[in-house]
Amino acid sequence: MEQQLKELQTEALAKAEAAEDLKQLNDIRVAYLGKKGPITEVLKGMGKLSAEERPKMGALANEVRAAVASAIETKQTALEQQAIKKQLEKETIDVTLPGRPVKSGNQHPLTKVVEEIEDLFISMGYSIAEGPEVETDYYNFEALNLPKGHPARDMQDSFYITEDILLRTHTSPVQARTMEKYQGQGPVKIICPGKVYRRDNDDATHSHQFTQIEGLVVDENISMGDLKGTLEVFAKRLFGEDREIRLRPSFFPFTEPSVEVDVTCMCGGEGCRICKHTGWIEILGAGMVHPNVLEMAGFDSKKYTGFAFGMGPDRIAMLKYGIDDIRHFYTNDVRFLTQFAEHE
Ligand code: DAH
Repeated sequence: MEQQLKELQTEALAKAEAAEDLKQLNDIRVAYLGKKGPITEVLKGMGKLSAEERPKMGALANEVRAAVASAIETKQTALEQQAIKKQLEKETIDVTLPGRPVKSGNQHPLTKVVEEIEDLFISMGYSIAEGPEVETDYYNFEALNLPKGHPARDMQDSFYITEDILLRTHTSPVQARTMEKYQGQGPVKIICPGKVYRRDNDDATHSHQFTQIEGLVVDENISMGDLKGTLEVFAKRLFGEDREIRLRPSFFPFTEPSVEVDVTCMCGGEGCRICKHTGWIEILGAGMVHPNVLEMAGFDSKKYTGFAFGMGPDRIAMLKYGIDDIRHFYTNDVRFLTQFAEHE
């Protein structure tokens, strides 16, 4: 029996040593140390032994079990370490490999110009106002001194949704909406950027959807001089300190008097294709808020005066970046858009 036990021990130790993975090792553990294993089997023959030999064999059996268990444990630790090592080797990162470049987006050129203009006016104490793109006839026209049937409505071909609801043709309705909110109490000092829509045929200079920025200042003693000074600061900051502006008389139903504002061309006044050889480029419409508009929005036109202006960032961006077709802004060809990235 002693012989048998020793052989079992040698056999188990050899097998444990040879085990290739944790599963094999566990099978060995179950086979040799389990209740139905060979050691238990050998010990069943103990009954035939003498009283002296029995405890000796019992002790030997325990030794064998302990030796096998300890060999299995040692091997298990070794196998586990090996597995970790393998895993680590598999997962090593080659830090010398060049990375894959991540493509990042960039701001749309129109957004850039709009934000630049927003920042400029915010620095002069203006706040940003917003209004709906689906607008009522009242705010888009009537509250701006353009009653139904007024011929100046023809200047803005409109997308009507119902008789009384349309896609706003300009950002001017936000003037009326904002003034109403102030309930006849000045000062009001806002700009309103946003999308506008007109029933135009798209070509290089027309788009049925485009952008406008509206400006409105209402307070006591606001004069045309304030308007001119504000627009001068605006033009110089946006286009360059060397630029000049000029005001030409014009007509808008919501302002009286009304002006169109030109800025000197980048050709320096020599005349080029962009300024059609005049040296001046028109950039916006403006004027003193018509008393009817003030009154309809709840402001006392004897106490308050104001100026307003409306500009097209599309046109300004085209001038600033030398873009020759307004449709580029809305067709979103990435080859066009990525030219305005500030990083590469
Ligand atoms: N709403 C005008 C347009 O779309 C632009 C404009 C002109 C706005 C004069 C104004 C203004 O506020 O005073 O053609």
